[in-house]
Amino acid sequence: MHRFYLREGTLYCEEQDLFELAAQYGTPLYVYSASTIRDNFRRLEAAFSPLNHLICYAVKANSNLSLLHSLAKLGSGFDIVSGGELYRVLQAGGQADRCVFAGVGKTRQEIQYAIEQGVYCFNVECEGELETINEIAGTLGKKAPIAIRINPDVDARTHRYISTGKTHNKFGIGLDRAGEIYSYAARLPNLQIRGIQTHIGSQVLSIQPFLEAIQKLLPFVKQLKEDSSIEFFSVGGGVGIVYAEALESGSPEWWQKTHPTPITFEEYAAELLPLLAPLGLKILFEPGRSIIGNAGVLITQVVQIKKNPAKRFVIVDSGMNDLIRPALYEAFHQVVPLKPTPPHPGDLADLVGPVCESGDFFLQDAKLPDLKPGDYLALMSAGAYGFVMSSHYNSRPLAAEVLVDGSRSFLIRERESWKDLIRAESALLAQFQ
Ligand code: LLP
Repeated sequence: MHRFYLREGTLYCEEQDLFELAAQYGTPLYVYSASTIRDNFRRLEAAFSPLNHLICYAVKANSNLSLLHSLAKLGSGFDIVSGGELYRVLQAGGQADRCVFAGVGKTRQEIQYAIEQGVYCFNVECEGELETINEIAGTLGKKAPIAIRINPDVDARTHRYISTGKTHNKFGIGLDRAGEIYSYAARLPNLQIRGIQTHIGSQVLSIQPFLEAIQKLLPFVKQLKEDSSIEFFSVGGGVGIVYAEALESGSPEWWQKTHPTPITFEEYAAELLPLLAPLGLKILFEPGRSIIGNAGVLITQVVQIKKNPAKRFVIVDSGMNDLIRPALYEAFHQVVPLKPTPPHPGDLADLVGPVCESGDFFLQDAKLPDLKPGDYLALMSAGAYGFVMSSHYNSRPLAAEVLVDGSRSFLIRERESWKDLIRAESALLAQFQ
């Protein structure tokens, strides 16, 4: 469910006409719907209300300070994967003692910072990391809370770059070695065993792999609760979203595409609760995409229309540096013009960016309407892994971000300037003069 819709052919976010926002702030422009984020968060909360639980929003999906602030106000904890993400959460008003720190390569500096700030738990990925955390905690005169990330060897049936729960992935420790690693952790004097964690992948479109992973872990989790009196079991994130849907009936056929049924939070909870409730543990969730993905769009403007004997190219002012998902995962983002646009009688077209790479496309061989330079388009469901994965490639300043709440809109990230591009370098030129 989200609050983007077409009203007489014009795309709205809540009560806000997106054409007006694009004209006011320019493009590329990320726009988020505050009520969609709140609604997603509250629905997940409600679905798991029978359990003692904590939602730790995965900051990597979108780390804008204002969005983190609104999630913290809703009572969210945070799943962080770097010192930088912890810093952002704290600046945004989040609490360290509601943060879980994940990631395969935490540095000593990051570990020290997280212990000093008092994170709820480190999700640990290998023995060496246990030793490093133990040593740093000792130096600080503290006991560091830890959980081990278990790799259940389950196929999440998602894109191979975002599948994490198979043995050939770099993540977690196999169940066969889990007992041994927990015993080792228990012998390290500056660690406190607090929980157990798993995460099988992202954009998972069926509940089955989650159930498989949980079922595989259950006997071990029960044993661990007896042996080490752990507090929590984190089942990770990964619930997928729909990237193509009808915004209103009778919408132009070219932007509709068949899609798998999404997992609703209610269905997810109905299947997971019977397995998790009897454990009597606190259950942690680490959702990113399912909270923020469909709450954001990227607005772009058509710059040129180019034709060659093979194809028509609609060239827009956003590129793979602004939204890399199509280039990196061949991901599909539905494209919706902000205003009614007549159909194009001719061939299929590519929707491409200005970046100097052939991988810089949003759609290939798509039935795009008769777009003209100056027209605005929205790339839908770009709220997760959109802005956060953007780069300065081709010396392109990063996009601005706007949050819409009802009829009000707030700039939550200024558009970068060319000056911003050289800020960390320009003073250093002096050494060559
Ligand atoms: N917990 C852990 C340990 C994770 O590694 C991730 C995502 C999450 C939670 C959140 O997963 P989510 O609920 O958002 O699926 N850039 C890729 C997705 C990378 C996901 C990385 N880990 C994309 O654009 O599809």
